[in-house]
Amino acid sequence: MTPSWSSAWCLSISGQIRRNITGVSPGLDSGALFADAIRPMPEIKQILEDLLRQAVTKAVGPEYAEADPILRQATNPKFGDYQANLAMGLAKRVGRNPRELAEAICNALPLGAEIERAEVAGPGFINLMLSSDLISSQLAETASSERLRVEVADPPQTVVIDYASPNLAKEMHIGHLRSTIIGDGISRVIEFQGHRVIRQNHLGDWGTQFGMLLEHLIDTGWEKSDDHHIGDLNALYQEAKKRYDSDPEFAERARKRVVALQGGDEQSLRLWRMLIDESVRHMNEIFARLNVRLADKDIKGESFYNDRLARVAEELERKGVARISDGALCVFLEGEEAPLIVRKSDGGYGYAATDLAALRHRIEDLGGDRLIYVVDSRQRDHFNKFFEAARRAGWVGTARLDYVPFGTIMGKDRKPFKTREGGTVRLAEVLDEAVERAKKVIETKAPDLPEDERDSIAQVVGVGAVKYFDLSNDRIKDYVFDWDRMLALEGNTAPYLINAYVRIRSIFRKGNIDPDSLHGQPVEIKQQAERALALHLLQFPQIVSGIAESLEPHRLCTYLYELASAFHKFYERCPVLTTEDPTERHSRLALCYLVARTLKLGLELLGIETVERM
Ligand code: ARG
Repeated sequence: MTPSWSSAWCLSISGQIRRNITGVSPGLDSGALFADAIRPMPEIKQILEDLLRQAVTKAVGPEYAEADPILRQATNPKFGDYQANLAMGLAKRVGRNPRELAEAICNALPLGAEIERAEVAGPGFINLMLSSDLISSQLAETASSERLRVEVADPPQTVVIDYASPNLAKEMHIGHLRSTIIGDGISRVIEFQGHRVIRQNHLGDWGTQFGMLLEHLIDTGWEKSDDHHIGDLNALYQEAKKRYDSDPEFAERARKRVVALQGGDEQSLRLWRMLIDESVRHMNEIFARLNVRLADKDIKGESFYNDRLARVAEELERKGVARISDGALCVFLEGEEAPLIVRKSDGGYGYAATDLAALRHRIEDLGGDRLIYVVDSRQRDHFNKFFEAARRAGWVGTARLDYVPFGTIMGKDRKPFKTREGGTVRLAEVLDEAVERAKKVIETKAPDLPEDERDSIAQVVGVGAVKYFDLSNDRIKDYVFDWDRMLALEGNTAPYLINAYVRIRSIFRKGNIDPDSLHGQPVEIKQQAERALALHLLQFPQIVSGIAESLEPHRLCTYLYELASAFHKFYERCPVLTTEDPTERHSRLALCYLVARTLKLGLELLGIETVERM
C-alpha cells in the first residue's frame, strides 16, 4: 500500500495557512479535519522511493515492489537531481535487459506534480528531475519547522557520552582538545535529536601521580598556606616529578602516599580533594572559553569507582571471564597478545578495572541504551578489550557501545604538536593566540566597528576557528595544526561560514527587513542557482541524523561549507534586494533567511557561535 502524497502536500502547504487562521498548532491533535495537514510531509527521498515502487509494480508486478530503488542524489545537475539505480540489479531477477527494464519503469512514472522529467541513461540509470513545485513545497515545510525538519527521536534513548576526561594535576593541553571538541559536537547533535544525553567527564583523578604531587605539596607546606591557588600546575608537576626521579626516599614516600590515598587515609584525601578542586577550577576555565557543555555535575572521575573495583574483579573471576596468571587477574582474549589486566599482581587496580566499573554504572545505574567514548585512537586496544570482557560478563545486554577514536594533532614538522622548546602546548595559550590572530583578521576586514565589538567578534571567530578546524578534519586522521588555514576567510573554515551568515544578516539590515517576518515564508524556485541551493538546504535533516550514526562531525562541516558556497553562487547570480519583482524579492529573502537559519543551527550543533557583523 503506497499512499499518494500529492494530495497530502497540498494540504500540508495550506496547513500552514490554516494553522495560522485557526490557531491550531502542529503538535496538537485537532481532529480528523486537519489530520493531513498535521501529518509531516515525507522527505523527497521517501516520495521518490514510493513513486519508484509504484512504477515497478506497474511495470513488472507487485512482487518486485520491495526492491530497494537505490536512490542517490545526482552528482552532476546535468543528469537531473536524483538517480535511481535499481534496474541493473532487478533485471536479472525479472529476466530482462537492464536498459529495457529501466525504460519500462521510467515510462510507468507519473510525470507532473513531483517529477518533471525522467530519463534512462547508460546501462539503465534512471535520472530524475524534480518539479519546482515539489522543491517549493518541501522548502515551505522546512521553513515552517522550528527544527528545520530534523526528526525527534522516537522513542528517545539514554545516551551516555564520555568525553574530555583529562588526567588531572596537569594543565589542559593540546592533547585534550580533540576529545573535548568532538565529544561536545556529538553530544549536541544527539541531544538535539531529543535523546537524553548524560555527559560523563571520566577524570583521571586517581592515578599514581597523585602520590608524588601530594607528598611534594606536604613538603612545601601548601596545605597550611593561606592561598591554595596554584598558578602553574605544570610547574608543580614537573618539580614533583624531578624529585620522584632523583630522590629514592621521596619516591618511596610517594608510593606509600598513593596506597594511603586509595585506602581512604583522611589527611591524604583532604589534601587530594584540595588539589582536585584546584585542577577542576582550571579545567572549567578552559571549558568555558571553549564553550563546551561540560559542567561539574558531569564529573565522574576514576576515584568515583574505587569501591566498586573489587566487585568487578570478583564477578569476572566467578563467571570465569578472568583468571589468575602470574599473580594478576587477567582476561585473555582471542587474537590478542596481551591480556586485559583487571588486577595487578600487587593487588592494585588500574585503568581497565575502572572502565569496567564505569561501564556497569552507565548501563545499570544511569540506564544507558548507548555508550559513546570519544578517546584517542591510541587507546583502541584498551577499548576493544574491555568491551569484549564486559560482553562476556553479560554486563552489556542490549546496549550499544561506540568507541569513537581520533588521530593526533601534528606540528608543521609532521610530528605531534609541541612548543618551539619541545614542551606540551597549553590550551590556554592556544586560545589566547587564536583570539589574538582573529583580532588581526577582523581589524583588516571590519576596521570601522567599535573596538569592543571587534574584541568580542575575535573571541567567537578565534575559538570557533580552532574548534571548526579540528571538527572539519576526518577525525580518524592526524592533522597539521595550521593557523593560517584555520583563520582563512576562504575555504572550509569557521571564518568563512560565520562570514556567510554575517553577509545574510547584512542583507536584511541593508534592506531594512525584520528577519522574523520571513519565518515560514514560501520560496519560489526559478533559477538554477536557487534550485541548487534549495536542494542543498533540504538535505540538512539527513545530514544531522547521519552524524548521530557515524559520529563523524566533519560531515556536517562539509555540508555547511557546501551550503555556504551554494549560497554565494546564488547571491552572485540572483539579485535579492535589487530585483524589480516584489514577489521574487520576497521569495529570495525567504531563501536567504532559511540559509542563515541552517548555518546558525548547524554551527550551533558543532558548538560554534555566530556573530551579527564582522
Ligand atoms: N583520562 C584518560 C586519558 O587522558 C582518558 C579517559 C577516557 N575515558 C575512559 N572511559 N577511558 O588518557
